[in-house]
Amino acid sequence: MENLLEIRRELASRDWEPMTAREAIAWGHERFGDRLVFASSFSLEDVLLIDLACAAGIRPRVFYLDTGVLFPQTYELIGRIAERYGLEPERVLPLLTLEEQAAEYGEKLWVRSPDQCCGIRKVEPLRRYLAGQEAWVTGIHRDQSPTRANAPRVTFDEAFGLVKLNPIVDWTMQDVRRYVAANDVPYNPLHDQGYPSIGCVPCTRAVKPGEDPRGGRWAGFEKTECGLHGH
Ligand code: ADX
Ligand code: SF4
Repeated sequence: MENLLEIRRELASRDWEPMTAREAIAWGHERFGDRLVFASSFSLEDVLLIDLACAAGIRPRVFYLDTGVLFPQTYELIGRIAERYGLEPERVLPLLTLEEQAAEYGEKLWVRSPDQCCGIRKVEPLRRYLAGQEAWVTGIHRDQSPTRANAPRVTFDEAFGLVKLNPIVDWTMQDVRRYVAANDVPYNPLHDQGYPSIGCVPCTRAVKPGEDPRGGRWAGFEKTECGLHGH
């Protein structure tokens, strides 16, 4: 990692708000090259970002945290995205297999302690992977939840110690849907079956029309974030 002080100074000295999504990605690519990585759960937002980067002539380095319990439709989509854009998304695995986790912590840890399960299957792997990078791109946007309402477009991610780019931070869900449809981007069919937000199978359920779009994540728990983007 280059001089952190210098990066922090650069981030503080600029107004990132007027930048477009495409400009943010182009800046990140120019500034960090191969040390810029795209975090993808292959949500509408994430496939959109991959499409945007490719349309700008940038071959994104895409990675995903494979908890082992993603939806079959998600695994299938990864193949379609890889083919359409000529990419090889990097698969980041937890240190424990599902069997090892069950042996150590008991079956279905997600039912008893989702925080601990996310810690093992998402947060630790993310920390380990990001340790070798300089900047990461995510698909979060402000209208997703109150915890994301003030998210900046570009910031220094203190939790993981590198630059964080949220290129579509000011986009609405409608903007996202419109882009995906207009550009014929491959997407997860579950989005058309009542799943606006898709994570792991045991912790995601469909929501009814008009219900909070993130209401289907960790339903029945206070939990609304898995620790990738703060709590
Ligand atoms: S979460 O924190 O509740 O899981 P959400 O599903 O809204 O996050 O996704 C927000 C962003 O986090 C995505 O756009 C993506 O950049 C990143 N992300 C979420 N899940 C993963 C994953 N399994 N692998 C890689 N990145 C992910
Ligand atoms: Fe475990 Fe659920 Fe978190 Fe996935 S979302 S890592 S299954 S607690």
